[in-house]
Amino acid sequence: MASRLPSFLIIFTFLAFFCFRVMPYGAEATKKLYIVYMGERKHEDPQHVTASHNDMLTSLLESKEEALASIVYSYRHGFSGFAAMLTESQAKLLAESPEVISIRPSRNYQLHTTRSWNFLGLNNVHPTELLRKSNFGDGVIIGIIDTGIWPESKSFNDDGYGPTPSRWKGICQVGEAFDANNCSRKIIGARYYTAGISDRNRKLDFMSPRDAYGHGTHTASTAAGSIVENVSFHGLGAGVARGGAPRARLAIYKALWNGGGNTATVLKAIDDAIHDGVDILSLSIRVLEESFGTLHAVARGITVVYSAGNDGPVPQTLSNTAPWVITVAASTIDRSFPTVITLGDHRSFVGQSIFYNTTKGTNYKALAFGGSCNEESLNGTDLAGTIVLCVVFSVSSDYSLYQDALKGVLKAGGEGIIMATYTNNFLEMTEECKGITCVFVDFVIAHQIGMYIGSESAPVASVKRTSNVIGKEVLAPKVATFSSRGPSVLDPGVLKPDIAAPGVSILAAKKNSYAFLSGTSMACPHVAGVAALLKSMHPNWSHAAIKSALVTTASTTDQHGMPIQAEGLPRKIADPFDYGGGHIDPNRAADPGLIYDIDPKDYFKFFNCTLQTFEMCDTKLQHVSYLNLPSISIPNLKSSLTVWRTVTNVGEVDAVYKAIPEPPPGVQMVVEPSILVFNAVNKAHTFKITFKPTSKVQGDYTFGSLTWWDGGVHSVKIPIAVRIVIRDLYADIA
Ligand SMILES: *[C@@H]1O[C@H](CO)[C@@H](O)[C@H](O)[C@H]1NC(C)=O
Ligand SMILES: *[C@@H]1O[C@H](CO)[C@@H](O)[C@H](O)[C@H]1NC(C)=O
Ligand SMILES: *[C@@H]1O[C@H](CO)[C@@H](O)[C@H](O)[C@H]1NC(C)=O
Ligand SMILES: *[C@@H]1O[C@H](CO)[C@@H](O)[C@H](O)[C@H]1NC(C)=O
Ligand SMILES: *[C@@H]1O[C@H](CO)[C@@H](O)[C@H](O)[C@H]1NC(C)=O
Ligand SMILES: *[C@@H]1O[C@H](CO)[C@@H](O)[C@H](O)[C@H]1NC(C)=O
Repeated sequence: MASRLPSFLIIFTFLAFFCFRVMPYGAEATKKLYIVYMGERKHEDPQHVTASHNDMLTSLLESKEEALASIVYSYRHGFSGFAAMLTESQAKLLAESPEVISIRPSRNYQLHTTRSWNFLGLNNVHPTELLRKSNFGDGVIIGIIDTGIWPESKSFNDDGYGPTPSRWKGICQVGEAFDANNCSRKIIGARYYTAGISDRNRKLDFMSPRDAYGHGTHTASTAAGSIVENVSFHGLGAGVARGGAPRARLAIYKALWNGGGNTATVLKAIDDAIHDGVDILSLSIRVLEESFGTLHAVARGITVVYSAGNDGPVPQTLSNTAPWVITVAASTIDRSFPTVITLGDHRSFVGQSIFYNTTKGTNYKALAFGGSCNEESLNGTDLAGTIVLCVVFSVSSDYSLYQDALKGVLKAGGEGIIMATYTNNFLEMTEECKGITCVFVDFVIAHQIGMYIGSESAPVASVKRTSNVIGKEVLAPKVATFSSRGPSVLDPGVLKPDIAAPGVSILAAKKNSYAFLSGTSMACPHVAGVAALLKSMHPNWSHAAIKSALVTTASTTDQHGMPIQAEGLPRKIADPFDYGGGHIDPNRAADPGLIYDIDPKDYFKFFNCTLQTFEMCDTKLQHVSYLNLPSISIPNLKSSLTVWRTVTNVGEVDAVYKAIPEPPPGVQMVVEPSILVFNAVNKAHTFKITFKPTSKVQGDYTFGSLTWWDGGVHSVKIPIAVRIVIRDLYADIA
């Protein structure tokens, strides 16, 4: 689970960057792990690339032995560079070498720590066209960079699988409790990376691709788990467990240990994944920079999917916002776990829980009010045998406050907890309740229960076993409270996130069993799975085409046709900073009509100028608004701005599309031409959109869209965010 200190981390990044640049010579410090990036590799032979890295470091350190001892990883497949243990002055010297594009300290990364597929319209009993035409993702290789894998899980059963695709060049790296038999026709490769991992995190884990932590097994089974019948968590969430692309192959890269990893390990995993031949890369981790790794992956045709972060509902908290990756927000699904609480006066209220114990909790028990319930506030209170009402005022999704309340109640001997919260996003926390009654309620219900406690001399309550409700009666999807929100801090000119996918109370594999987890970590592999189906159905679509298909067909309304809401304080109708194009709609994405395609070379032009790659930036390079992204973000509209886009027809050869502009409030939007005619000769068209403010006002972001509609099933919609700015020095906090 990511901590919720994004602004702190970003400030820290800026400080680290600054300090590194002004640090004086001398002052010989201890060695630290640095990442040296040298751009596109210049030699075809990987051995040659490594040799050149060694030579470079040897000439700097004046000793071959020291150079070899310093290099931790040589990056040589997707891009050229290395990770090395260096002193600050050595790093400074290296930075002056003309071959070096950037050098930065390796940073630590954290994780962003069944039903969902039917909800997305990908039913395996009555397979949709997408599942059938893509043959359940067969032949596609999904790389998972995470905490490893638990190969014995039924979700990775390889019964009935054909041979490993011949283009696969990866390995099965053996180690502790992981031998060559642990790879299969399902898990076709596995590697692990230990550089810079703390001793503590190594000891808590296996020295092999085996996953002691559970996160990587969960994400891998979500993306590509085989079909497993009759899965549940103690009877809840029962059904068939499977990944989005149940026949896709998995390539496992364990770069995170006990939830922690670093730039050096993740970059090495990306470099190896490029070499091994993965088609899709799924990364449910927080990364603030070093996005050149994924850029080179995308340039080689790999689809890269990232989680958006769990720092919502606070704005400007997104991570992983490079324009070439798919950044995924998390949504709720149409399942809830109603749990009935009955008071001594026979009134009943419904909360939610993943409380499953039938033997406990059915009888009346004493009921008490515990306030915030942390250890300090309950200190010295004896709550033996009592159910405690706790009130947690957490504006964002600060999981630790719930854990503090639970700890306090357990320590005071409590036998149950009724927790008043603003969100049901962390229901799996009730798993930590160690078998005691554990229910989440909203503040309206908590108030009623509180009034009852205050009016009785001996208040009591009973809690029934949780049931399971799925389907249309559960309002879904909604953007989850914890899902990080835009705009992107690193580049507000790129609209992020790109899309939302299920990420709340997702049941997937954990060791030999199944567990619920919530987070954008869970949303990311949903998109990776769908991307695998699209790749299988359309083998020659580029990464940009897959992303465009997903974004332009995403849904902005729920199952009842009402606008999708974003949870948070306050709850509101979702906008593109919550969910990008909207909620993923896999079946529509299979047939998008038009795509916004991008030649990966264009990303390099942009990359060079905006991602602070030291002095290498050539200011003549193009601005990001020229990238042919399936979205438009204009953070500083003054008088007038024209943006160009090109759409390519991937539907029927003869088609006529008409523009349906929905201008952001306060903005005039003119699309020219407004009719596009496609045929065997004209497969692509370029059009321009001119934006003008309708009034002179120091504005806030407003949202709109542009849809190209063929009069039938194809409506190709991109989200638009515009902020009118009169004065440059303007601090907009929302
Ligand atoms: C994986 O390897 C371990 C020993 O290294 C073995 O005990 C286990 O049975 C293997 N699992 C599978 C699924 O082959
Ligand atoms: C599913 O699992 C339950 C509990 O383990 C068992 O009682 C039931 O027979 C199983 N059903 C099927 C179809 O396997
Ligand atoms: C609980 O109270 C005792 C005595 O009043 C005090 O010494 C102790 O530090 C308190 N513990 C906590 C966790 O506040
Ligand atoms: C359910 O409650 C019973 C009785 O207190 C206890 O023995 C058992 O371990 C609990 N089961 C679970 C799964 O927590
Ligand atoms: C996709 O590949 C096929 C076969 O290689 C080719 O005929 C077709 O034109 C390609 N389509 C696109 C859009 O590139
Ligand atoms: C940045 O641009 C320069 C000059 O155009 C080029 O030599 C260099 O390789 C580029 N770097 C990247 C990372 O694309």
